[in-house]
Amino acid sequence: MTLLVTGGAGFIGSNFVLDWLAGTDEPVVNLDVLTYAGNRQNLAAVDGDARHIFVHGDIGDFALVSKLLAEHQPRAVLHFAAESHVDRSIHGPEDFIQTNIVGTFRLLEAVRAYHGQLPETAQNAFRFLHVSTDEVYGSLGSDDPAFSESSRYAPNSPYAASKAASDHLVRAYRHTYGLPVLTSNCSNNYGPYQFPEKLIPLVIHHALAGRALPVYGDGLQVRDWLYVGDHCAALRRMLDAGRIGETYNVGGCNEKTNLEVVRTLCTLLDELRPRADGQSYAMQIDFVADRPGHDRRYAIDAGKLERELGWRPAESFETGIRRTVRWYLDHPDWVEQVTSGAYREWVGRHYGAAA
Ligand code: NAD
Ligand code: DAU
Repeated sequence: MTLLVTGGAGFIGSNFVLDWLAGTDEPVVNLDVLTYAGNRQNLAAVDGDARHIFVHGDIGDFALVSKLLAEHQPRAVLHFAAESHVDRSIHGPEDFIQTNIVGTFRLLEAVRAYHGQLPETAQNAFRFLHVSTDEVYGSLGSDDPAFSESSRYAPNSPYAASKAASDHLVRAYRHTYGLPVLTSNCSNNYGPYQFPEKLIPLVIHHALAGRALPVYGDGLQVRDWLYVGDHCAALRRMLDAGRIGETYNVGGCNEKTNLEVVRTLCTLLDELRPRADGQSYAMQIDFVADRPGHDRRYAIDAGKLERELGWRPAESFETGIRRTVRWYLDHPDWVEQVTSGAYREWVGRHYGAAA
């Protein structure tokens, strides 16, 4: 038995592959085109491991995906590959449309053809697990109940709209062609190997580099933070026991304002790597222009996943964020490698010279 994972050199995908191979001998074929966000170094621990087959390629390459499916005969596809950064989608939506919508469509087409010719027992056992986001539901008011699986789709950024479109395609392939799909809609992840364009690794990196810590607008936007290992555990449960055609919301029950998150990071860094001048990293906080169309609040009701599949996050925000800060402090080489040319170009373009 084999899994085909797409985007397994990115943040969540690489955590999934590493956790998977630590827990089972089932091989993983990892298809990743290695955009700026994909990094072979994330997978260094499984270099030379025969259970990990890395393939450099695009999910939109129908011929390549068809060949991989025929060759490796996976029992499931876990689809992580995407353009994933909201700010980049605002600067340039085109790549998001190509990968998240067209790429997912072509992947589904290849998987549909493969699934159609499997023997009946293999067809019944097969799963296509689509990894999506809570951003498809739009923004909550401060007193609104958390997003459930029946919340209305109301995506607000080009990124969220492209993920919503991919969710709809996945759903349609179930209803029209009978492809055995499942979709997860997860809240904000954090943990090792997250590219430092996202809030938590960006703040750690900028703090240590003595640079400004950019907080958009008033910093009172709320996100529901989930440790990446808990997300990976939820996906494994869905693969094992999720009901075909269902969507499952995944979240940490950890609603925090961005300012709380940034201040927590400053406090942890003050403790673990104090500034040479004895001052707090909090003095580097800089309120900058808000993100256009910035969603005010996300919160996830993960009750269905808990009731049906018995999943609960293992990490609290306090334990997960400490682990995460320690990981970045312990891996300066990884940070150094991913914050080379392309990263610097992005920071200069998005935050201006002051950053
Ligand atoms: P990421 O940007 O860190 O990684 C994406 C990976 O996909 C990279 O390795 C990249 O090289 C690869 N990729 C991009 N385009 C590709 C293509 N055309 N063909 C093959 N590979 C391609 O993203 P992430 O944060 O790890 O997110 C993974 C998935 O989880 C995405 O689908 C995202 O929408 C979803 N998600 C992310 C979060 C989060 O907080 N990061 C939360 C919920 C859902
Ligand atoms: O909710 C799930 C989503 O979480 C995923 O689908 C996305 O792939 C992932 O990138 C993440 O989206 P966000 O936009 O919420 O994450 P980001 O880390 O970019 O920003 C988190 C919050 O912090 C958001 O309210 C914007 C704010 N922010 C972000 C950056 C990069 C700042 O205030 N300053 C910053 O410099």
